[in-house]
Amino acid sequence: MPASPTLHVRPVAAELREAVLRLHVRPDQDGFVSPPARTLADAERCPGSQPMAILLDDMVVGYYRIERSARSLAGYDAEAEALGLRSFQLDAAWQGRGLGARALDALLTDLAQRHPQARRIVLTVNCNNTAALALYRRAGFADSGTLYHGGRSGPQHLLWRHLP
Ligand SMILES: CC(C)(COP(=O)(O)OP(=O)(O)OC[C@H]1O[C@@H](n2cnc3c(N)ncnc32)[C@H](O)[C@@H]1OP(=O)(O)O)[C@@H](O)C(=O)NCCC(=O)NCCS
Repeated sequence: MPASPTLHVRPVAAELREAVLRLHVRPDQDGFVSPPARTLADAERCPGSQPMAILLDDMVVGYYRIERSARSLAGYDAEAEALGLRSFQLDAAWQGRGLGARALDALLTDLAQRHPQARRIVLTVNCNNTAALALYRRAGFADSGTLYHGGRSGPQHLLWRHLP
């Protein structure tokens, strides 16, 4: 029986770039997240931002970026040891298979190695984004109780999680 594909995360290096730029979410999710085609170049230019690819074996299936300071998120007044998670997404073709949870696991494991000093990770998520909210809560994220009103598609919850 063939081994099930391994999910892992890697910085977006030159050889992954084209595949990352092709990623897209469902049209009804466009208001929840910006596609790499619109934001990757910015993430690459920004010294505090690390664009990351989510891979199943060698196939790119998703994307996110880690902000070295959560202060760049929604004007969040975070402590210095808090990282920010932005643009977490799976390609439309790969959603609904439990890969979101596996990707979050891999992301958190990777952070422990890449940013051992970090204590928390913070993100914002649209209040209507039921699938992402369910996923983050299951992965141990807590609601800060703060609503961020500056998003382009309506209010967002500010969630956070301790890092191991
Ligand atoms: C968020 C995302 C990564 C989740 O990935 P996924 O693995 O496909 O997630 P699933 O579709 O398996 O669903 C995750 C959870 O949400 C639940 N869910 C899915 N759609 C739902 C809906 N419409 N209403 C309620 N719950 C829903 C699933 O049941 C699952 O919960 P469970 O694990 O308790 O069963 C993916 O939906 C995505 O890329 N969305 C677009 C980008 C986005 O919104 N990113 C978040 C930015 S903050």
